[in-house]
Amino acid sequence: MKIAISSDHGGNNLRKEVMSLLDELNISYEDFGPQSSDSVDYPDFARPVADGVASGKFDRGILICGTGIGMSIAANKIKGIRCALVHDVFSAKATRCHNDSNILAMGERVIGPGLACEIVKAWLGTEFEGGRHARRIEKITELEG
Ligand code: RB5
Repeated sequence: MKIAISSDHGGNNLRKEVMSLLDELNISYEDFGPQSSDSVDYPDFARPVADGVASGKFDRGILICGTGIGMSIAANKIKGIRCALVHDVFSAKATRCHNDSNILAMGERVIGPGLACEIVKAWLGTEFEGGRHARRIEKITELEG
C-alpha cells in the first residue's frame, strides 16, 4: 500500500507523528509537505494528495490541518475522493467498512497523537465490506455527475 500525506501549518506536528508511525509499520508513503512551519493555505496541500489518490498513483491519502475540516472539504471537491474526517476509532473502522473512504482527515488541534495513531492503524487495517455499501458508493459517484 502506498500512502500520500500532507498537512498545513496547523497539522505539521501531527503529520510528523503519523509519518513516524508509517515508518514503524513499514508502510510506504510520499510526503507532500509543508517542509516549514510557515502559514500556508490548506487547499494547496490537499490537492496533490487528492489528485494522487484519484489518479490511482496512491492507494490512500492522509490529510491533517488544525481541525481536519478544511482539508476534508477541499479533498472532497476532487472527483473520486471520499475523504472522511475522523476523530475516533469507531468511525475510522466504520468509514472504511461502509464508505470505502480513500482519504483520512484529522485535526491536530482536536486530538492528541496517541489517538491519531490508533485511528490511522484502524483506518489502514479495515477493509471495505462491499455489498449494499457498494451500491451506495455508486450513488455517491453518480452525484459527481
Ligand atoms: C489554519 O489556521 C486552520 O484554519 C486550518 O488548519 C484548518 O483548521 C482549516 O480547516
